[in-house]
Amino acid sequence: MNIVLTGFMGTGKSSVGRRLAERLGLKYADTDDLVEARAGMTIKDIFGRFGETRFRRLEKEVIDGIISSSDGLVLSTGGGAVADDSTRRSLRSWGTVVCLTADVETILKRVGSGDERPLLDGADKREEAEALLKKREAAYRDSDLMVDTSKNGAEEVIEKIVRFLSSPRPGKGGSP
Ligand code: S3P
Repeated sequence: MNIVLTGFMGTGKSSVGRRLAERLGLKYADTDDLVEARAGMTIKDIFGRFGETRFRRLEKEVIDGIISSSDGLVLSTGGGAVADDSTRRSLRSWGTVVCLTADVETILKRVGSGDERPLLDGADKREEAEALLKKREAAYRDSDLMVDTSKNGAEEVIEKIVRFLSSPRPGKGGSP
């Protein structure tokens, strides 16, 4: 079994992912951590020195590597990973894709100053977040399950995912 957590920055993918893996007895990996390890620098530095295109290439390489060699994993992905159509298709065929969501208010509160997140480092973070959310809406919807984390605490979110995983599913398809 593989579970992929997708969703915008600040929706709680890493904290939910770690705890979900523990709960299910699966391994845990985070594409942002793997990209940083591969590049030997922080995501902020990759963006700053080489730009987003280079970051996306590394992100895709990391995800392709996991898909072709790993199993029994909860994988948290960076917020923009599923915006790439082929990556999203690969992730969907590799595992159950769960998209975590949150309202803009919550996202902005969670990302705080946004120093670590190059795509939310402008003067108007709300505008940046709203524009990106709009652009990625369809990609996020293309998932097996969507869970709101604005009002649900981590335990409730995990409970909803576990319930979904253990319920009979005739086939893959969006589930609100
Ligand atoms: C990004 C999200 C970040 C990180 C990078 C780009 C995005 O990950 O991959 O800054 O494009 O939304 P988190 O979603 O874990 O913050």
